[in-house]
Amino acid sequence: MDNKIKLLQDKIEQAHAGGGPQRIDSQHKKGKLTARERIHFLMDEGSFEEIGMFVTHRSTDFGMETEKYPGDGVVTGYGNINGRLVYIFSQDFTIFGGSLSETHAEKICKIMEMALKTGAPLIGLNDSGGARIQEGVVSLGGYADIFYRNVQASGVIPQLSAIMGPCAGGAVYSPAITDFTLMVENTSYMFVTGPNVVKTVTHEEVSSEELGGASTHATKSGVTHFSCVNELDAINHIKQLLSYMPQNCEETPAILAYKPDQDESRASLNKIIPDNANQPYDVRGVIDQLSDSGSFLEVHKDYAENIVVGFGRLAGRSIGIVANQPAYLAGVLDNNASVKAARFVRFCDCFNIPLLVLEDVPGFLPGTDQEWNGIIKNGAKLLYAFSEATVPRITVIIRKAYGGAYDVMNSKHIGADMNYAWPTAEIAVMGAKGAAEIIFKKEITSAADPAAKLLEKEKLYAEIFANPYRAAERGFIDEVIEPADTRIKLIKAFKMLENKVVNNPRKKHGNIPL
Ligand code: COA
Repeated sequence: MDNKIKLLQDKIEQAHAGGGPQRIDSQHKKGKLTARERIHFLMDEGSFEEIGMFVTHRSTDFGMETEKYPGDGVVTGYGNINGRLVYIFSQDFTIFGGSLSETHAEKICKIMEMALKTGAPLIGLNDSGGARIQEGVVSLGGYADIFYRNVQASGVIPQLSAIMGPCAGGAVYSPAITDFTLMVENTSYMFVTGPNVVKTVTHEEVSSEELGGASTHATKSGVTHFSCVNELDAINHIKQLLSYMPQNCEETPAILAYKPDQDESRASLNKIIPDNANQPYDVRGVIDQLSDSGSFLEVHKDYAENIVVGFGRLAGRSIGIVANQPAYLAGVLDNNASVKAARFVRFCDCFNIPLLVLEDVPGFLPGTDQEWNGIIKNGAKLLYAFSEATVPRITVIIRKAYGGAYDVMNSKHIGADMNYAWPTAEIAVMGAKGAAEIIFKKEITSAADPAAKLLEKEKLYAEIFANPYRAAERGFIDEVIEPADTRIKLIKAFKMLENKVVNNPRKKHGNIPL
């Protein structure tokens, strides 16, 4: 028995040694942690249980039969994060560059299936040189096996991907399918084809960082939702993100214990909107006042900044927030903002996270760039996402709600449950000046003083429509509220809506305009 236990211990020790001290050293020198160190920092102490520690590859070409490492370049298993069960795979760059072999893929698929069966989140820590080149097509098949399971699990369990090293070629598509991607600045990159291929095909000279680093994907492509300063920052983001989510689509997020403030009213909100309706302000100031102190976690912070999305809490309850941002492009909806918000709305709806919309939108951004890049179908995505969402949905119109954007931004007409407006709300087909120029065109051009006439008509239009009362008369707005009372109203309304049930018509699946 002693000998056999010794053999087991030796094997475990060998597995823990990864690709050996030299390669671990080189990993550390790059500012990266090893696969096991990452798990150590992410999971509750002592909770991680490894599955498949002794798996090795089956490859025999290129002398591979003599080069085997237990685990085959990926550590897989389950454990707890803040007391909640999660499944994890963590690629080990010190073994064959974390490249994906047939067996490496099988290990990942195994824990994906277990996560799906037991209804717990899946976390992937990616650090890999891509398909195991010595294995050819079986490695490519392994990727597809993972993609297929990502899709099966989509909307059933939350799936998070952190990119902590290279992630190139086919490897990018698993993170792309998962719900949230996090990248580490300067030590990770993602691209379908690397700088060398780019140079050959398009003659562009570009570095890995510029082509697919964290800042590129956080600002230009929106591929990553978070750009993290280092690996520990990414690990902390994963923990925080998970805290807003339930384990799976059958559950609701945990409501944190909440001690009500003495006074839940927020007097400063009565002064947050500038007197001049065309003056910008940062909607994050409104979000901070409305949500529980320090609870807002912004998603896609540096991408399509004209819309702000993220998770927050209201009296301990997890909510998804979608807010037009007047401080950036006046808060217009454009292609990127529409797609960004639509994806966020759909995530919240998948996982029973109620939605709060803060609306101050002058309309859709005009121009050939927008039209040629499909603002029609992209705007439709947001409209579709809100319309099909069955979670509790509340809108607060803060200021502008113009044109089609009024309809799209979670209006009563597309199924919102409660629609509030501040007295500063302007709900109209368009701004007063533009409207007056069109409907009073003849009167204005034939007037002795066209400028004065325009001003007069603009004032008339504004008096009639630049307020929330026409919409309130119709019941499109449930209540016009003092800004200071908004937090109280929202806490009560989300509580009132907590048992909401809506059954959409039976279908195979909808056909969202992609
Ligand atoms: N298959 C098999 N082994 C791989 C591999 C792959 N796809 N990618 C890396 N490795 C191995 C290397 O042979 C090396 O092994 P060693 O430690 O025994 O010397 C180890 O992983 C580390 O790779 P290295 O190239 O030294 O690291 P690096 O940090 O300098 O570069 C990459 C990292 C990912 C840029 C580079 O390894 C690379 O270009 N890999 C191939 C990427 C690719 O084209 N993949 C297939 C398409 S999906």
